Amino acid sequence: MQKVITIDGPSGSGKGTVAKILSQKLGWSLLDSGALYRLVAFGAIKHGIALDDCDALAKLALNLDVKFELQADSELLIPVFEGENVASLIRTEECGSAASKVAALTPVRDALLDRQRAFLTEDGLIADGRDMGTVVFPDAPVKIYLNASAEERAERRYNQLKNSGETVSIAAILNEIRTRDERDMNREVAPLKPADDAIEIDSTSLTIDQVVDQISDALSNVGLI
Ligand code: DC
Repeated sequence: MQKVITIDGPSGSGKGTVAKILSQKLGWSLLDSGALYRLVAFGAIKHGIALDDCDALAKLALNLDVKFELQADSELLIPVFEGENVASLIRTEECGSAASKVAALTPVRDALLDRQRAFLTEDGLIADGRDMGTVVFPDAPVKIYLNASAEERAERRYNQLKNSGETVSIAAILNEIRTRDERDMNREVAPLKPADDAIEIDSTSLTIDQVVDQISDALSNVGLI
């Protein structure tokens, strides 16, 4: 049995937070696949590559010059792209939206496939994304599809931005979330959807701890922990 859990779902469903907690709790590695698409988008903007220039974007994705380095004072990995710490630069709304556009291109997805699979080692892996259970790790013994209402996800994002001192309108965030969902769920290649054998969890009225407990139960049910 592969030692991998996949957690897929739309942005703001809480999968990133849950994946981080599980990786720390179990001591397994973490694949934040969205960060790879964000890095391709960031690189494209940095090098003036158009977001529909399939060949140039695929080349960039295949040769992505990124290292994930352990931050000195925490257990978090930070992306160092072309020698620069881009941890916060790739987290902007602009980069997220551009990532969703480049992620709709088959050659870009193909170019990132081996890099994502290489994260799986004997130590175990929590893979967070949109197509982890459907495409990248189809044999994962535990697949989670984490969802939440668009309104709840917008509110979470709003509070996150407010806490970091940014003023944004909740209506604009909700609009952006709906546009991104629409693009991620309706693209032709690897659309966001639950794998046939995924456990679906709606986190709208659950705490992070409750979600982590449900996933831990699923892991012990199959004997992974
Ligand atoms: O999870 P995130 O918000 O960091 O992801 C940014 C974008 O990347 C998201 O809108 C869709 C895309 N993505 C994808 O298509 N497949 C993945 N496995 C992860 C992210």
